[in-house]
Amino acid sequence: MCGIVGYIGEKNSVPILIEGLKKLEYRGYDSAGIACIENSDIIIQKAAGKISALEAQIKDKDISARLGIGHTRWATHGEPTDINAHPHIDDSGRIAVVHNGIIENYKSLKTLLQKKGHIFITDTDTEILAHLISEHYNGDLLEAVRIALNQVDGTYGIAVVCLDSPDRIVAARLGSPLVIGNGEGENFVASDVAAILRYTNQVVYLEDRELAEITQEGFTVSRIDRTTISPKIEDINWSLDMIEKGGYPHFMLKEIMEQPTTLRNAIRGRLKFEDGSVRLNGLNLQYKELCQIKRILITACGTSWHASLIGEYLIEEHARIPVEVEYASEFRYRNPIIDPDSLVLVISQSGETADTLAALREAKRKGATCLGICNAVGSSIARETDGGVYIHAGPEIGVASTKAFTSQIMVQSLITILLARMRHMSLEQGERLIEAIQRVPDQVSVMLEKNEEIKQIAEKYYQKDNFLYLGRGLNFPVALEGALKLKELSYIHAEGYPAAEMKHGPIALIDENMPVVVLAPKDAVYEKVMSNIQEIKARRGNVIAIATEGDTEIASMVNDVIYIPKARDFVLPLISIIPLQLLAYHISVMRGCDVDQPRNLAKSVTVE
Ligand code: G6P
Repeated sequence: MCGIVGYIGEKNSVPILIEGLKKLEYRGYDSAGIACIENSDIIIQKAAGKISALEAQIKDKDISARLGIGHTRWATHGEPTDINAHPHIDDSGRIAVVHNGIIENYKSLKTLLQKKGHIFITDTDTEILAHLISEHYNGDLLEAVRIALNQVDGTYGIAVVCLDSPDRIVAARLGSPLVIGNGEGENFVASDVAAILRYTNQVVYLEDRELAEITQEGFTVSRIDRTTISPKIEDINWSLDMIEKGGYPHFMLKEIMEQPTTLRNAIRGRLKFEDGSVRLNGLNLQYKELCQIKRILITACGTSWHASLIGEYLIEEHARIPVEVEYASEFRYRNPIIDPDSLVLVISQSGETADTLAALREAKRKGATCLGICNAVGSSIARETDGGVYIHAGPEIGVASTKAFTSQIMVQSLITILLARMRHMSLEQGERLIEAIQRVPDQVSVMLEKNEEIKQIAEKYYQKDNFLYLGRGLNFPVALEGALKLKELSYIHAEGYPAAEMKHGPIALIDENMPVVVLAPKDAVYEKVMSNIQEIKARRGNVIAIATEGDTEIASMVNDVIYIPKARDFVLPLISIIPLQLLAYHISVMRGCDVDQPRNLAKSVTVE
């Protein structure tokens, strides 16, 4: 989704802005632009399409400016054209604004400003900010921004520059993340630390309704009501390597391959063999409070929602606590019933998804205890939950989530054991599950070694127009996630279904052109799934089976089989998803799609 980067210092801001914008590409965007102040002039350059188009445009212009702001736009109001790209300026051409979020009352503000003579040239909601700030500008940029924002409804992360104050950037946040980077003799602002990590790992996260005035020497932070804040500088322990491809052709492949490590990181220091249980320090809940939980609601979006479904199966089966999983976008408007014994679990890789954040706030408003399962440290959801567990998967750059998904499941497995051991689960059973968890990173490595084999299977099917994914029990959400990965990455229509539901609809689609990926490990429902495979074969469908090592019977029935190591049902989704991630990856590459930044998608959806 939209990205912001800003720089003020001794260096030329242009290459820093372009470099920063490239680091934000992964979030998804459709146009980009920069505004720099050079010799009493604001230079604005913007272009629809990729950042390379913007680069080509500014290549011969020889711009050198020590102050600049840049933006990648993901269109909401108005098409992704050059003119609609940010930065936007006021009519006097003195104030430039980049904005993430949505100004909900932009129409009424626009009418008001038009009456005062302002002329608008774009279809965006953001343009009104430039005009509104200009309307209130009286020599003090910070104050003008503050007054303007008081008139605005909606969400924003903004960076503003003004020709008359060429020594500062004003930034502000409400519902859309912004971070200030503290460098030596230079300072930065960005919507994501990835944009500025090359230059500094010291950052200040702005909170909602805070404004910052950033100069070359330093920065001040104040609330919209003018109270000043002592900003807390935090160290980011991500390294630059972690946000680069490390020799892989795509971030997504790198992230798939990282999973043995990221899964180890998710369990490191958390397993307690002697107790057959786990240690989760960040929950901020007393033993007694955890024992009192009678119901759990899990809310999330996208891939995190699929991980939540697996959490539901795990917690209900082992801890025997009723669990409901709800899309955050539904949860927030459905007036959910939350009683004092309910726990709300909020799952989000980025910790910034607008719907998930709103669902969390709604749950908190109703008095729920809310725990977060996040990847991005210091993100809004991580900060606003009562406690939680970080998944420690490191930065995930590929828009389609892979390593975060498996780590979200892993963390929910740990929560399951913790809650189960406080209830019915025996020490022996707890120990057995912990042993199973410990083996997972190696079993995932075994699956990753099958990369070439899976690529060959992809070769056979990559030109198909439709795919069906089937699974039962814990493998049903895996089927959903497998289908989502394929559709996100390769634009092939793919659906996930509980295997037994096939006969209530999708069976009508099956013919020789329909590949069906069937998750058929040797688990409690194996025989049932085998019957589903017979039904597909009887209709000349092509079956790609994910089966347990040693199952020779299935090989004679299906077109292709990918074997997974024997493992307990409890951890099976962590292993069975790997071939589906790789299959989707290879099919996408073969179809010439943009693997890391699929069309129309955003890594972190910070608008409703
Ligand atoms: C977007 C991304 C998905 C992600 C979803 C939820 O749609 O493209 O990959 O699963 O948002 O994101 P979150 O950061 O809340 O997990």
